[in-house]
Amino acid sequence: MATALIVLAAGMGTRMNSDLPKVLHQVAGAPLLVHALKSAAQIEAARCIVVAGHGAEAVGKAAKSWDETIELVLQPEQKGTGHAVDMARTALADFTGDVIVLYGDTPFIQPETLAAMQAARRDHDVVVLGFSAKDPGRYGRLVMEGDSLQRIVEYKDATETERAITLCNSGVIAADCTQLFDLIAQISNANASGEYYLTDVVGLARAHGLSATAVTCDEAETMGINSRAELAQAEAAFQARARANLLADGITLTAPETVFLAHDTVIGRDSVIEPHVVFGPNVTVESGATIRAFCHLEGCHVSRGAVIGPYARLRPGAELAEDVRVGNFVEIKNAILDEGAKVNHLSYIGDAHVGAASNIGAGTITCNYDGVMKHRTEIGARAFIGSNTMLVAPVRVGHGAMTGSGSVITRDVPDDALAVARADQQTKPGLARKLFEMLKAKKAKRDMRAE
Ligand code: UD1
Ligand code: CA
Repeated sequence: MATALIVLAAGMGTRMNSDLPKVLHQVAGAPLLVHALKSAAQIEAARCIVVAGHGAEAVGKAAKSWDETIELVLQPEQKGTGHAVDMARTALADFTGDVIVLYGDTPFIQPETLAAMQAARRDHDVVVLGFSAKDPGRYGRLVMEGDSLQRIVEYKDATETERAITLCNSGVIAADCTQLFDLIAQISNANASGEYYLTDVVGLARAHGLSATAVTCDEAETMGINSRAELAQAEAAFQARARANLLADGITLTAPETVFLAHDTVIGRDSVIEPHVVFGPNVTVESGATIRAFCHLEGCHVSRGAVIGPYARLRPGAELAEDVRVGNFVEIKNAILDEGAKVNHLSYIGDAHVGAASNIGAGTITCNYDGVMKHRTEIGARAFIGSNTMLVAPVRVGHGAMTGSGSVITRDVPDDALAVARADQQTKPGLARKLFEMLKAKKAKRDMRAE
């Protein structure tokens, strides 16, 4: 049966104390909203609707840049979760199938959990995702009778007995689309908050003779983010899980707790990641690569057998082929390094192509920016770039060509040619000694005056 997702993301998130809408704060390099959409994507929903309000424009942009088929509806005023879902009524008017409601600020719900809810829908009209809370705090409480969910009470409206219940509402709910909107139309706001509670659909369903139940999951999955402290906890939880997954997948992390991964980091088996490495979004590392200590990688690809760092920075568009070496204090941006190329020390390679087995000497810089535009540097295969060469782009150094150390290369160098572009050396016999004597005499005179 087709499923439509509704992701609630209209709230302001006052406790974040931020200009940024809450759901756009990031965990592991992706907005909270994207995390929610990602697990949802795995259940292959036919439709996905994001309900936006505060910062709707930015929220919509983030959602669309993740997946442009996502539909956006506006909740101009936040009158409660029931009211928020109601905003999707028109968009889903001709939809037949199930609806699952998720929260944009609850990033860790697993696809398997959503699948379990879909399965439970076969026997029940309304399925709610619950969890046993260590500290139930202000969560809504699930009032059960055996397997049957009777209703959900919000903390504010609960009696002492109800508050003693530890089975809590995650906020995720699944029901038939038409039935859900029929029930939502009957919700009132006569409660302690004066809001339209989505949670009221359970009691209403029961009153109409429909059945409801709860599926449960681990509390870690239902973690919602309301403050910077919770954001930091969510980051820590994500990192702990991601590191454990890598270790299980056969990747060596010398000091796992010092390695930071992005939501989409992919690392192949038998790679070694040394301490203090940070992965930004969109990095893939093939099997058997080594990332040495203190590297920063984002938007790049590292092939089999390559060795990066220590202290290297790979920026977006860095594509390193097999057995490439990138050493200390080297920055690579938007550049392809072919098989076996070496850039071992103190260099900047940007907007460039470095051919196979070429060696880039220490201190080489591709001068790719003229203050207005970016230009490309092409280096052929088996080339040797002497230390401290400035390659003023656009420029090409041919296959098997060489540049002399300290050269400023402004014109193309043909294949197999040597280019030297620096002032000629002049050597003056005895002049150094003379100069030293003169300077020492000058200093002695000055010291005498000072006494
Ligand atoms: C809600 C549930 C509660 C549950 C808890 C789990 C209701 C009435 N209560 O409470 O049972 O235990 O989540 O975290 O549903 N939102 C909108 N528009 C609105 C109101 C909310 O988009 O008008 C969005 C928020 O941005 C947020 C989500 O819905 O992403 C939940 O809203 P929030 O106000 O945090 O609900 P809680 O009071 O925490
Ligand atoms: Ca909340």
